Amino acid sequence: ATPPEVRVYEVGPRDGLQAERAVLTPEVKIAFVRRLHAAGLPTIEATSFVSPRWVPQLADAEQVLAGLGDLDGLRLPVLVPNVRGLERALAAGAREVAVVVSATDSFARANLGTDRETALGRAADVVRGARAAGLAVRGYVSMCFGDPDEGRVPVAEVVPVVHRLLELGCATVSLGDTIGVATPAHVRALLTALAGTTDRLALHGHDTYGQALANVAEALEHGVVELDASAGGLGGCPYARSATGNLATEDLLWMLGGLGVRTGVDLGAVASTSLWMARHLGRPSPSRVVTALAGG
Ligand code: HMG
Ligand code: MG
Repeated sequence: ATPPEVRVYEVGPRDGLQAERAVLTPEVKIAFVRRLHAAGLPTIEATSFVSPRWVPQLADAEQVLAGLGDLDGLRLPVLVPNVRGLERALAAGAREVAVVVSATDSFARANLGTDRETALGRAADVVRGARAAGLAVRGYVSMCFGDPDEGRVPVAEVVPVVHRLLELGCATVSLGDTIGVATPAHVRALLTALAGTTDRLALHGHDTYGQALANVAEALEHGVVELDASAGGLGGCPYARSATGNLATEDLLWMLGGLGVRTGVDLGAVASTSLWMARHLGRPSPSRVVTALAGG
């Protein structure tokens, strides 16, 4: 059955901006987060503390967090790939972090520079360190459905990785459809295999093949409690060939509104933020809903 409410986990300032050609100033990024917060988004992944050589777009993570310290009541997780990133995040005052691992070996190498098991070990060190410091931790598993090099990813490859992150103490684990190839049948198969844990699972969809909303509808039927989306449909991973934008927050809100699922988020305010951001990025939002609300 469709739940009465879900949490929308906004990734625009991190996943949305990490692969954009335009590099924004910290002031614009701070204004972006503030506008999203004002629109009612309760959780906003603000930036990442990754290697600036790997993601120059987010090299100003310290400055961005410093500009958001006064936003009470807002969850502002930041993505960290290793203990070095955790130390930077702690020094910058982060209260919540997200670690990232991959269901596939190919993508662990492409995105994290090491094999899948080593990446899991590093993530475990980050989770332990973060929890010891009193931080909440989210776990991401990338390539839960398909991988650009390996093709379809078997459910049996994904399930143990998700369980491992949950056992380590991640409050939520987000199932990444990094390149947007999942279909509802595949979501059903994975969530059926993960039954019993869905109250700690999120779905992180990219809309490459136009399936992201259908996948969300399926995930809701399985009790997934958190949905990742990016304002305006920005995003992609610079290390995943064929990853296009995330599911647009506006597209998600339109569907949830129609289903009567409460989110507490003001769709119009998110859409006007995306139109504002499109001017900074110099390209229109790929979101259908943003385009429609803007009059065409
Ligand atoms: P590496 O090159 O294998 O490791 O990178 P390294 O230890 O040799 O470090 C290389 C350089 O980076 C060194 O500097 C380090 O000091 C520095 P140099 O000596 O060459 O000047 N360094 C750092 N600097 C700042 N902060 C750090 C840090 N760590 C090392 N934390 C590493 C390994 C993990 C660092 C690299 O692979 C990396 O940063 N990867 C992250 C890539 C990334 O951000 N990808 C996008 C996010 S994941 C995603 O989008 C998927 C998701 O949305 C879900 C989905 O869609 O599936 C979450
Ligand atoms: Mg992503």
